[in-house]
Amino acid sequence: MTTTPAVEALATPAQYRDAIARVREAARAYYGGDGDFAAESVLDDAAYDQLLLALAAYEQAHPEEAAPDSPTTQVAAGAAPVGDVAHGVPMLSLDNVFSAEQLVAWGDGLQRRLGRPVEGGFTVEPKLDGAAIAARYRDGRLVQVVTRGDGRFGEDVSHVIGTIDGLPESLGTACTVEVRGEVLFTQEQFERANDIRVQHGATVFRNPRNGASGTLRAKDRPYRLAMTFWAYGAVDLDGGTFLPEGASHSEVLALVSAAGVQTTRENPAAIRRVGTVEEAQRRIEEIQALRQALPFGIDGVVVKADAAAEQRAAGSGSRFPHWAIAFKLPAVERTTVLLDVEWNVGRTGVIAPRGRLEPVEIDGSTVEYATLHNPADIRRRDLHLGDTVTVYKAGDIIPRVQAAVVQLRPADAVEVPLPEACPNCGSDIDRSQERWRCVKGAACRLPALIGYAAQRDCLDIDGLGRTYVTWLVDSGAVTDIADLYTLDLATLSEAAGSDKRGAKLAEQIRAAKAKPLSRQLCALGITNTGRRLSQRIAAHFRTMEAVRAATAEAFQDVDGIGPEKAPGIVAQIAELAPVIDKMIAAGATMSEPAGDSAVDGPLTAEDGRPKKVVVTGRMTGPLAALSRTGVKDLVERAGGRAGDTVTAETAYLVAAPAANGKLSSKAAKAEQLGVQVLTPEEFADLVADYLS
Ligand code: IVH
Repeated sequence: MTTTPAVEALATPAQYRDAIARVREAARAYYGGDGDFAAESVLDDAAYDQLLLALAAYEQAHPEEAAPDSPTTQVAAGAAPVGDVAHGVPMLSLDNVFSAEQLVAWGDGLQRRLGRPVEGGFTVEPKLDGAAIAARYRDGRLVQVVTRGDGRFGEDVSHVIGTIDGLPESLGTACTVEVRGEVLFTQEQFERANDIRVQHGATVFRNPRNGASGTLRAKDRPYRLAMTFWAYGAVDLDGGTFLPEGASHSEVLALVSAAGVQTTRENPAAIRRVGTVEEAQRRIEEIQALRQALPFGIDGVVVKADAAAEQRAAGSGSRFPHWAIAFKLPAVERTTVLLDVEWNVGRTGVIAPRGRLEPVEIDGSTVEYATLHNPADIRRRDLHLGDTVTVYKAGDIIPRVQAAVVQLRPADAVEVPLPEACPNCGSDIDRSQERWRCVKGAACRLPALIGYAAQRDCLDIDGLGRTYVTWLVDSGAVTDIADLYTLDLATLSEAAGSDKRGAKLAEQIRAAKAKPLSRQLCALGITNTGRRLSQRIAAHFRTMEAVRAATAEAFQDVDGIGPEKAPGIVAQIAELAPVIDKMIAAGATMSEPAGDSAVDGPLTAEDGRPKKVVVTGRMTGPLAALSRTGVKDLVERAGGRAGDTVTAETAYLVAAPAANGKLSSKAAKAEQLGVQVLTPEEFADLVADYLS
């Protein structure tokens, strides 16, 4: 599914001129940055595309006002660095469409130009997200590499010869031809490149595409970075005859490939020939589905009329050919503001940072949090709170903060503060590795995890109080939740201080082991899955075996698990493998009885679905003692689901009345949407039976 970006309408000549300036500035950064300095676009790709569309719409409505040098009439918006190497055949750009309907309209337009339907079929190939180059082979040797530039003249970047996979220095045959295609960093090459740059004291690349155009332009670096090339075309050079007269696009690529250059035929999202625009649309959808598994970036899919004669008949405009079109896929990188960095201690004691963002829509979902790697990486990226940052998210991938747009840094931005002590237990931090850890390791979070697991609606181990838990953890008898199941009577008696209490605990633990899968899952304490979600997961998959085999996609079939949560759940289940194995070995129940085990409570809607409750601000009355997680658990126990943002689906907003009479943003949103607002006291009444 692809959505057309909402076009920002331009109403006045002043707005039109301002939009031209913004496109220019962004295009200069996009095409002109050398990757070594802060040449970053202030617009992300989606915003850039929208603005170009707005310019085009304005020019169509007011042709007399259209600027003769408008970015809509120039390759690369006229901003790419232009060199002095002439292109024998211009290197054009591609026009964009954003939906199946627009693709059909493009096909209809092409048919009108030809005066009959396309007979030679279409090719469908990935739109590789890198930089365009022309590679000149003379007598089988790679002699020159040139950038696209303004399409007429490009820069000589022959210094990259020998560093690009797929673009060999010599071919099997002594042919003379100019091969055209895209050079990019694969994800692996990108990470390697950034490691090398850090070793040389250079800044990390903002993304693979910026890195590729920067690397092409940087001639004097003391290090070389490997990139990858895929050809998507070729033209004759010096009057050579390598390409037979009238060869189709797919035939040209077959020849180039046979000569030893990597082409889109060899790409994992390989070029396909199809008969019709409808078939092209199906292949686009296939490539779109492949996208997240590709080890490099694509930002669209290119459809071309295959036959040379039909290409010639359709012709080209000043910027792009009429016989080819780019179907743009939703952007996977957007810019937003880094509001805060939170530090969470994982099960093993790793202290992991997470960025809180101004919510931004990426690839079909709203992103509010994105992972950061570790303190050293935060410093390397020079991130400040208040920075505008680029955030990357694709498909099931957990969103991550990539880089700061330095020129947009507000004056009051502060370096991201790093924790001085373990944010969970206050112990010292082990900083000997890039990933910081609490010196207590797994024991840092364990007492809280066990306390949680022992609660009534989880494993229900009555009497396993905080002191016993602390003793069990400190003595090393319990290193994870599974160890509870194999504690012997002597240890339990020692922990509890008497044989009688020990025997009672042993009995409770035996009963806990027999509890259904939903309770065992809950006891694992998987982040983002409370009791209710554990119940739903268990009801959906029925066995632990099925839970462990489930992909992130499969998890999204569980009500309440979306693309944001699913990958994290899968990762945690994988990480918990040794604990789960121990639970199984100890004889814990790992299946869920049939029948709907989901709780029905005051927050369950008529149709059995959980009502969404958003809680904000300070809790008062009976809820005053509860942590934020405690309130969320309460919502789930009572059959609801806790959310963070007030939307039309929200059933209740729980908020104390503002002391100064001013509505919080959530309360204002609730009022606007007609969502019922309850005070903490009113809410406590509603769920009184579930307040433990
Ligand atoms: S064909 C005459 N095919 O997209 C048509 N371009 O936005 C020339 N690109 O400048 C381009 N993958 O840098 C073509 N499979 C592909 C492509 C592709 C990426 C880039 C190329 C071009 C830009 C246009």
